[in-house]
Amino acid sequence: MGVKITETVLRDSHQSLIATRMTTEEMLPILPALDEVGYNALECWGGATFDACLRFLNEDPWERLRKIRDKVKNTKLQMLFRGQNILGYRHYADDVVEYFVQRSIANGIDIIRIFDALNDKRNLKVAIDAAKKEKGHVQAAFSYTTGPVYTLEYFTNFARELEEMGADSICIKDMAGLLKPYDAYDLVKALKETVKVPIELHTHYTSGLASMTALKAVEAGVDIIDCAISSFAMGTSQPPTEPIVAALQGTEYDTGLSLEKLDVISKYFTPLREKYIASGLLDPNVLKVNVNALLYQVPGGMLSNLISQLKQAGSSDKLTEVLEEVPRVRADAGYPPLVTPSSQIVGTQAVLNVLNGQRYKMVTKEFKGLIKGEYGKAPMDIKPEFVKQIIGDEPRITGRPADALKPELDKLREECKPYIEQEEDVLSYALFEQVAVKFFEARKAAKYGIDIDNADADKKIHTV
Ligand code: CO
Repeated sequence: MGVKITETVLRDSHQSLIATRMTTEEMLPILPALDEVGYNALECWGGATFDACLRFLNEDPWERLRKIRDKVKNTKLQMLFRGQNILGYRHYADDVVEYFVQRSIANGIDIIRIFDALNDKRNLKVAIDAAKKEKGHVQAAFSYTTGPVYTLEYFTNFARELEEMGADSICIKDMAGLLKPYDAYDLVKALKETVKVPIELHTHYTSGLASMTALKAVEAGVDIIDCAISSFAMGTSQPPTEPIVAALQGTEYDTGLSLEKLDVISKYFTPLREKYIASGLLDPNVLKVNVNALLYQVPGGMLSNLISQLKQAGSSDKLTEVLEEVPRVRADAGYPPLVTPSSQIVGTQAVLNVLNGQRYKMVTKEFKGLIKGEYGKAPMDIKPEFVKQIIGDEPRITGRPADALKPELDKLREECKPYIEQEEDVLSYALFEQVAVKFFEARKAAKYGIDIDNADADKKIHTV
């Protein structure tokens, strides 16, 4: 059995390279060709794509999913799901999580990759159970990172638990491109000896290792690897699809994919790449090999956010200082993996610490929440004196955070009632409240031919 490929060009690849700005119109013409290739899946939906649709592109993300599903008849569609955060940035009540999973599958998703930023499995359970109930394929992921707790045993134990919770496959989610080739070999070997379900490798090219890492993972028996078509690959995106396919040709790992078919796809995306370079959205900084990713464990999306946050503050020269502050903040916070939302929380706090010239002089509400336990349990215990410094005498949350949340779907439905045109709208509203309302208003205005100025929506920083 050869290795399978999941193509990320419709989600992570453009999220990592062009701040998730690829439009549905830009995707539609190539979907039939993508559907012909024989990929394991097309990753096409997730938090940032959903957010960018509403916030920047004036598109309904649900409509995008239905349009993709309509043109992709044979290939599985995959989405990324942040456990109890769904696609948003806070914890949601279980009824919202369950309803989101149900509507995602009903609108065309086959595979749901579910992860938690803190690798707190209590935050995965409701989403996993809901996806099983809807007969979706549950791909449970663990966030890969390095640090004092992250041993092979930590990951194999976690994988075993995920399999017991019902995972149909398991993903090594290396969002920062930290996984080195020989470590990948050992990790995949250990996972294959521990669990029966297929293993998928998700990594980023940021540090220049990804193709080598993929190859060693293949030799160790990985079942599926995430790649991006070459014209939207490398840099902070995934390893390029075509060289992986070529490298494995004629071996026991042969993907069976046609380089000619892939070339058609690559050629389609080339002018789009040029367009985004010309517009400045594709920053050459994210394309070069960044060894800092190995030193600071900063994922690609987070790196581009830090660059843009500093640019907005007129402090672009502070990037190195901020990158050095990130691992210190991370250690203070109990070594969370850096992935949405922890990547933003830690990143923004690091930016504040540097710009204020004093650590924790200003603390964001989200950082307080992280230390308090609002997002779950940190992989390592946080020092009590640090907890006290950040949250004072407020009590910490030690249970599953969502246990403290009452069902909220009915209340949300009531709040956004005037805007609802389809049942999924309540979920868009649940996740992105004011941004969704703005979109709903624009949608209504377009319908009735009213011209409203939506220009300032462009000025916000998008975070992934
Ligand atoms: Co990724």
